[in-house]
Amino acid sequence: MPGGDTIFLIGFMGSGKTTLGHALASRMPGWRFIDLDEEIERRESLSIADIFAKYGEATFREIEADTLRALATHSHPDTTLLIATGGGTPCREGAMEWMNDHGLTVLLEASADRLLHRLVQAQSQRPLLRGKTPRQIGEFIISEQQRRAVYYDKASIRFPSDLLETREEIEDTCLRFIKEYHDIRHAL
Ligand code: S3P
Repeated sequence: MPGGDTIFLIGFMGSGKTTLGHALASRMPGWRFIDLDEEIERRESLSIADIFAKYGEATFREIEADTLRALATHSHPDTTLLIATGGGTPCREGAMEWMNDHGLTVLLEASADRLLHRLVQAQSQRPLLRGKTPRQIGEFIISEQQRRAVYYDKASIRFPSDLLETREEIEDTCLRFIKEYHDIRHAL
């Protein structure tokens, strides 16, 4: 396996980008995981919710795009860089094209029911879900996924991520991901 690759995990909030990214990097020597939201919080010394509250979404999107570019252009030849983007990162003109030019984009796809279940549990960290009832979150998932599809559809590969709740599911999903990744890289 040649080194120096970058993998961008993209997908809706709750699709499992962070969970899968951490799990993969802990199993794969030479893989380094970076969560874009965590990196933004570290750089700005503010939580994502506080960045939205203090500067607004448009400024968050600028910071997000700048941070992504800074991270992905610092890859090391012996390291596979695995970057979990935010759910909205691809939805900026040129963002998918840029990621496709700089690595492999993988769209994680979970069912709307699974997304709802995960997001109701982890609502507080996500400013776009603030104050919404579970029913409103369900509606938001459907409408926002439709709006974002035009960007998400530019991903190089799609990967089902419904099964990430238990240790066994995470293990199986990681093995499936690694196999698919190797198959794709050998075919190129
Ligand atoms: C967002 C997704 C979040 C975070 C921010 C906005 C979005 O990341 O970047 O709250 O627009 O979908 P996750 O997808 O990791 O939840």
